[in-house]
Amino acid sequence: MKTVTLIAGDGIGPEIAEAVKEILSAVDAPIVFEEVNAGSTVFEKEGSYLPDALFRSLEKNKLALKGPITTPIGHGFRSVNVELRKKYDLYQNIRPICPAAKLPMKFDDVDMVLFRENTEDLYAGVEKIISDDEAHSIKIITREKSERIIRAAFEYAAGFHRRSVTVVTKANIMKATDGLFLDVAREVAKDYDIPMKEILVDNMAMQMVMNPGQFDVVVTENLYGDILSDLGAGLIGGLGMIPGVNKGRDMAIYESVHGSAPDIAGKGLANPTAMLLSACLLLDDIGEREKADHIRRAVDDVLSNPATRTRDLGGSLTTKEYTQALLEKVGGSC
Ligand code: NAI
Repeated sequence: MKTVTLIAGDGIGPEIAEAVKEILSAVDAPIVFEEVNAGSTVFEKEGSYLPDALFRSLEKNKLALKGPITTPIGHGFRSVNVELRKKYDLYQNIRPICPAAKLPMKFDDVDMVLFRENTEDLYAGVEKIISDDEAHSIKIITREKSERIIRAAFEYAAGFHRRSVTVVTKANIMKATDGLFLDVAREVAKDYDIPMKEILVDNMAMQMVMNPGQFDVVVTENLYGDILSDLGAGLIGGLGMIPGVNKGRDMAIYESVHGSAPDIAGKGLANPTAMLLSACLLLDDIGEREKADHIRRAVDDVLSNPATRTRDLGGSLTTKEYTQALLEKVGGSC
């Protein structure tokens, strides 16, 4: 049995976390959850958005499944997600972008894995208000942090026999920062027998919309990675479908790409698939691939039928009804 910290989060977080717990329990996943929340909901009750109990739990368990956390826009506390990624140096944000089910989609050959640097770039939070009319944000790119994420992408590509690694930058304009990232990528690529492609981020956005099948493993900086993974979600059914993990040297926090979806929170409409698939990545990593695949097959079966889709996928099922359909599928033994 593994003890895993469960951060239900804000907005739709508690609804989807409940669904995930039920499904993991139905497949007898060898996981015991230690539930410690963070974010706005906790802030309102306890005056702290990152309680000490969370740090204690994470440092003990080293594994967490996390729901989305609301971050105030333009003011208020800094993103809890960014804080956790920086505090525990969770430098790899890995987001597989491949369809989990036969949904109506423009492309049937999307199969990318996006590696996003998770600790620096414009997300370092080095911002300064110069005057009422001027503000600066410093973009930080270092050799060390670029190298470890690029190497992680190449190691993954080598380990899983992927076709290529695409490095995304805007090195034609940001010659110092993105230029450094690209130089490091060219150096790292020499250690591997895998073709490396270079592309500028604006062209990447267009190519992903026109011909996403050409990309395999993709590695990029923090901001570009954030934007491109949402774009990737749009290719495979939307934000309700895309899982992810933040990994450091000895800790991993599994979480969906999507946010707390305040527009549908509390309405029973959230699609729990992304969080469930994030839990599957966790199961893979703790040596429970069979159980993870059993859940993935159930997701594929249920969502391939238009009658058993949630509203974001054009269906009419509520979170609870969809969870029930999944429970009926996983019910058999693994
Ligand atoms: P969002 O991802 O919460 O929502 C964007 C759109 O996608 C909304 O229409 C929403 O209803 C829909 N959506 C997202 N997840 C869904 C799901 N599982 N099922 C069905 N529909 C879903 O992005 P938004 O609105 O920009 O951000 C809301 C809050 O979430 C903000 O405070 C933001 O900072 C936070 N956020 C947190 C993240 C995290 O904790 N990892 C990641 C991204 C945003």
